[in-house]
Amino acid sequence: MTTSQQTVRKAVIPAAGLGTRFLPATKAMPKEMLPVVDKPAIQYVVEEAVNVGLNDILMITGRNKRALEDHFDRVPSLEDTLEAKGDMAKLESIQAASNLGDIHYVRQGDPNGLGHAVLRARQHVGNEPFAVLLGDDLIDARDDLLSTMIEVQAKTGGSVVALIEVEPSQISAYGCADVQAIDGEGYVRINKLVEKPDVDEAPSNLAVIGRYVLHPEVFDVLERTGPGRGGEIQLTDALQELAAGEGEGYGVYGVVFRGRRYDTGDKLSYLKACVQLAIDSEDLGPGLREWLPGFAAGLAK
Ligand code: UTP
Repeated sequence: MTTSQQTVRKAVIPAAGLGTRFLPATKAMPKEMLPVVDKPAIQYVVEEAVNVGLNDILMITGRNKRALEDHFDRVPSLEDTLEAKGDMAKLESIQAASNLGDIHYVRQGDPNGLGHAVLRARQHVGNEPFAVLLGDDLIDARDDLLSTMIEVQAKTGGSVVALIEVEPSQISAYGCADVQAIDGEGYVRINKLVEKPDVDEAPSNLAVIGRYVLHPEVFDVLERTGPGRGGEIQLTDALQELAAGEGEGYGVYGVVFRGRRYDTGDKLSYLKACVQLAIDSEDLGPGLREWLPGFAAGLAK
């Protein structure tokens, strides 16, 4: 592990949103618990954090936190049953979730926005840089993003966001970044962030996705950030202030991700993500590959 990876030790995973785009599925459970192939989305995200050495994980939970806590806890009776049956593969699959890092929970109370959720992490995180991972965005385990972001944070001393290039017509669904290249570096400096701009007002086609490595100065900024878009305390507004200011902990940088990302935040993207990931899975892939072309050909008729 490099020195830069050691500087960031904690991951914050906000999971307190109302998930209205997924109602009624999210009436009694957080959308982060929706299964993507055979694991809840949040397990992919926790595994991603643990894979880059972030073993101290704080989840920001809402009113339906029980399913989350249960999923990452042990279930001795189920383990005993599987062991007695000799079903070691299933035993290992359920133990995998309870052996992931050291998971802590804090309630958000009122879901007043992503910025508000991140501010709830202040006491646990303290005065050190930390990662924020959203359960909506799954990054393929074969592609690297977070460890590069951690390195850029260590190098710049600021905060780092993850960016992807989208079709210009798609940009109004995202936070959009106005960026400036830095000579000789693979990352960019963020001049400005605009939340969900109209297509003709977007400064670029670079969209912010759900991975951040933040300087703890963000907490002071969030404390004074008032409600923004939708009446919620927006992380983007705090990042905008960090991008525009100067001094210790200021400056925001972007890492452009060109790997495989699966959006699970709305129903259609979620269905596509499930198919994409299942196609690559060892047990489901062959059957799905056999069935899908015929099914699609039937649709094309
Ligand atoms: P979204 O913007 O996707 O909102 O949140 P949402 O409420 O979860 O879903 P919709 O739009 O109503 O369908 C992005 C991330 O921020 C978390 C969510 O859980 C999600 O991981 N979040 C959002 C919070 O933790 N608290 C909030 O107040 C808002």
